[in-house]
Amino acid sequence: MYSTAFLDLPPFVRASGTVRLPGSKSISNRVLLLAGLAAGTTAVHDLLDSDDTSVMLDALQALGCGLRREGAVLHVTGLGGRLDAREAQLFLGNAGTAMRPLTAALAVLAATQAGRFELSGVARMHERPIGDLVDALRQLGCPVADLGRAGYPPLRVGDGAVHALRTDAPIRVRGDVSSQFLTALLLALPLVATQAEVAIEVEGELISKPYIDITLRLLGRFGIEVQRDGYARFVIPGGAQYRSPGSIHVEGDASSASYFVALGAIAGTEAPVRIEGVGLDSIQGDIRFVDAARAMGAEVEGGPGWLQVRRGAWPLRALTLDCNHIPDAAMTLAMMALYADGTSRLTGIASWRVKETDRIDAMAAELRKLGAKVVDGADFIEISPPRRWQAAAIETYDDHRMAMCGSLAAFNPLAGTGGSGCPVRILDPRCVAKTFPDYFEALFDLVAATPGGVPVITVDGPTASGKGTLAAEVASRLGYHLLDSGALYRATALAAQDAGISLEDEAALATLAGRLELRFTGHHVFLNGRDITDPLRLESTGGMASRVSVHPGVRQALHGLQLSFRRVPGLVADGRDMGTVVFPDADLKVFLTASVEARAQRRHKQLISKGNPANIEDLRADIQMRDERDRSRAVAPLKPAEDAMLLDNSSLSVEDSIDQVLGWWQQRKPF
Ligand code: DC
Repeated sequence: MYSTAFLDLPPFVRASGTVRLPGSKSISNRVLLLAGLAAGTTAVHDLLDSDDTSVMLDALQALGCGLRREGAVLHVTGLGGRLDAREAQLFLGNAGTAMRPLTAALAVLAATQAGRFELSGVARMHERPIGDLVDALRQLGCPVADLGRAGYPPLRVGDGAVHALRTDAPIRVRGDVSSQFLTALLLALPLVATQAEVAIEVEGELISKPYIDITLRLLGRFGIEVQRDGYARFVIPGGAQYRSPGSIHVEGDASSASYFVALGAIAGTEAPVRIEGVGLDSIQGDIRFVDAARAMGAEVEGGPGWLQVRRGAWPLRALTLDCNHIPDAAMTLAMMALYADGTSRLTGIASWRVKETDRIDAMAAELRKLGAKVVDGADFIEISPPRRWQAAAIETYDDHRMAMCGSLAAFNPLAGTGGSGCPVRILDPRCVAKTFPDYFEALFDLVAATPGGVPVITVDGPTASGKGTLAAEVASRLGYHLLDSGALYRATALAAQDAGISLEDEAALATLAGRLELRFTGHHVFLNGRDITDPLRLESTGGMASRVSVHPGVRQALHGLQLSFRRVPGLVADGRDMGTVVFPDADLKVFLTASVEARAQRRHKQLISKGNPANIEDLRADIQMRDERDRSRAVAPLKPAEDAMLLDNSSLSVEDSIDQVLGWWQQRKPF
């Protein structure tokens, strides 16, 4: 997961490969609640692991449900309809799929079993309406207190006393603001339909009907067969009782699939984009996004549990569509509209205004930044593609879908409006954690930038100048890959030592370097499966590396390996010749120096702090000798590239150096 302040996407030109989708948010949270209410233990497979499911899990735990993880399976032991904890304060983040159903379920349990529960969330959650559900629960006779603004969370359900519920008359609920109110009642009322049937009547035109279908199907899996008359009246039969199905699988998220369907439609020009975890047989309404994508030109094939998408019509065909049936995935259509041959109009999207953010306002503002012409109203948005694309920093409003949608703008070189493309900055990319924590990793696995289009920052300099620390920190702030090229020479030296190869035997060293089995994981480095993280950093290894690195054959053998680190979204590479030889076209070259004295002092401190003996005189002499060898060798000698920015950090703190480099980087960006 990317937790950087922003993530810059270079212009993308192709997409292909396979993505395995995380579990559906809507199914995950419904299944968790049902398993938590039912009697018995349910083994939940392929559950989504995200912000929204983690607040639901915390809530179930607080209520006394049993949760046990076994590999990828979560075993949930339910309450069997009996409250264990009678009081709890539940924090539900910004998860509507947790807030609404838990409010209803706890309201009826509290009223019948003398409980009292408080439910709250983040500030935005407290701006998302819940009044229609509260009205329905009050009709039923459940005490519900507004703890803030009436009709919005936070709420308190139950007052610690028992209340008789009026289940003889139909419960009326409005269906035109959010279908989650009806879902919440459908999930809660089986708890009180143990004797006689309970009816629900929907007032107004129900929106997002497919989500109700998911609710009904999952109720069926847990033993409740709801009878219904269209989407206007639902009856939970008397004698209802939740029963665990024993085991249940969560489908991949169809809304998340939409980004990859779009990827295929826009950039699946050579090989297709294959999506696994959700297929044409999905129970999720957002699978109908496939029809809309086809209408725009996508070529989609699919079967049970898989989809495969290629580009068909290009440019995409502009679309006019009532999106009431695919409210979440419709945002992806708004992005595809940027690549269409005319103006697209999406209607029936009033619900966008009460989601994670006001998505109509948010989408309109961000699409305009990219250069699109946008007209929007209470329940529609109209988008004309940019005539000239502009590099833009996309605001994400703590809304996962804004971030995932924003990434689709990075294919702008394909729009045929000229130019080699603009980068796209996604602000606060972490917000994808709500439903798809590894979205950007999955995206980067599938996309390709133009040759030379992946940005590189090089940090070269003499030994002990602090370039390793600086490069690692800059890479981490930008979410870029890191190449510590010195580690490759060090590993070659260690491998030579292991194999008993002389440090003067160029041919043998070059062969060895060409076959290095190196693996970098987090802060660890493995050579042929052996963890060499510690020996790699030894002074003696650095000395050997310096000798190994004078051989042109070794440098040549490591060249291709170094180039392979240049991957989307970008690279920070540190060493001696990153800017001069390996990445001569780097976007920013930094040459870091510090006085011999400052470097000797730092190295001394570093060694002492790790409990290694060190002598400052020896270190000074050693650094001078290494400088001399690195500078005077015939190939790739240590020297600043002509276009390098020189940074003498003798009297700078690490943080100052980082700020300086990030400042230079920012100046080269169009945002
Ligand atoms: O940066 P370092 O101390 O890990 O590097 C170890 C040795 O490897 C250094 O003395 C010179 C050599 N080296 C090189 O020649 N070219 C690079 N790009 C990186 C390191």
